[in-house]
Amino acid sequence: MDARQLNETAKAMVAGDKGLLAMDESTPTANKRFAAIGIPQNEETRRAYRDMIVTAPGLGDSLNGAILVDETIRQQTRAGVPFAKALEKVGIIPGIKVDAGAKPMAAHPNEKITQGLDGLRERLAEYVKLGARFAKWRAVITIGDGIPSEGCLEANALILALYAALCQEAGLVPIVEPEVLMDGDHTMERCAEVTEQTLHTVFAQLVAQRVLLEGMILKPNMVVPGLKCPRQNSNEEIADATVHCLLRTVPAAVPGVAFLSGGQSGELASARLSAMNARFKGRLPWGLAFSFARAIQEPAMTIWHGEDANVPAAQKALVHRARCNVAARRGEYSPAMEKQ
Ligand code: 13P
Repeated sequence: MDARQLNETAKAMVAGDKGLLAMDESTPTANKRFAAIGIPQNEETRRAYRDMIVTAPGLGDSLNGAILVDETIRQQTRAGVPFAKALEKVGIIPGIKVDAGAKPMAAHPNEKITQGLDGLRERLAEYVKLGARFAKWRAVITIGDGIPSEGCLEANALILALYAALCQEAGLVPIVEPEVLMDGDHTMERCAEVTEQTLHTVFAQLVAQRVLLEGMILKPNMVVPGLKCPRQNSNEEIADATVHCLLRTVPAAVPGVAFLSGGQSGELASARLSAMNARFKGRLPWGLAFSFARAIQEPAMTIWHGEDANVPAAQKALVHRARCNVAARRGEYSPAMEKQ
């Protein structure tokens, strides 16, 4: 493990006001999103869609990194350039999602456990050869009646830590993503409680497994009320609750926090990130960045719709959403930007 190089890469992933783009939807998830808007679901449409993203002019001005998935890291642009190389060329560090998805957890009704540790050391070595410099693993925590259970939190945290240690052994910066889901009618306060408990458990395991905190990135959820909660808090309340939770749980040695969007609209995700930075930037030990998938890609996918002719308009929408999030890192996003 080269601690200095891991730290350099981790810092580069959250440097300046840029962030990360998650373009690592698994094949079933990508197909589901395509199906919902009538795009044919096959390897070539998935490749063409990722081609549209990777070749978007100016994308490197807003992104430090992009997360690919196994299929995509083996594909090329229409011009024959491997996606990882095309990203590097415009200053975007390529990364790779390496988990095998969250599956129902035995003896834990309604809870999930993320799979993919088997053979991970060998897969990581191959991804390094294919150009990846960081990796991602997502654990899913559900809030509900009597859940999350301690068993679910402990198991997911241990697996995240084992994954992170293997990444660092291979020279890859692990993005550690414990996602507390927004599904349900729970309050923001309940989300805060569960997120705090989750992050405490995750960092305890990261330390126990000797993960270099300086060589990782945390990808958490924002502390928000459940989608069906009757009381939807203000962006400022969400900003305060989220930062408060992170201050209590995330060691100062971690170079950066890059949020997932988790199904919030693009506008809300940007506004909430902006509220956090407007209130706290410069007073926190780590940068507050973004690692959004849906909140950057959503309008672009709809505009693209599988048609070559729509590529320039889709790329414009994509770059625009990325820029909105750069503004959010500065604490300067406003909904008026959406009309520009
Ligand atoms: P969303 O921003 O759409 O939640 O996706 C982020 C991600 O990478 C989920 O693993």
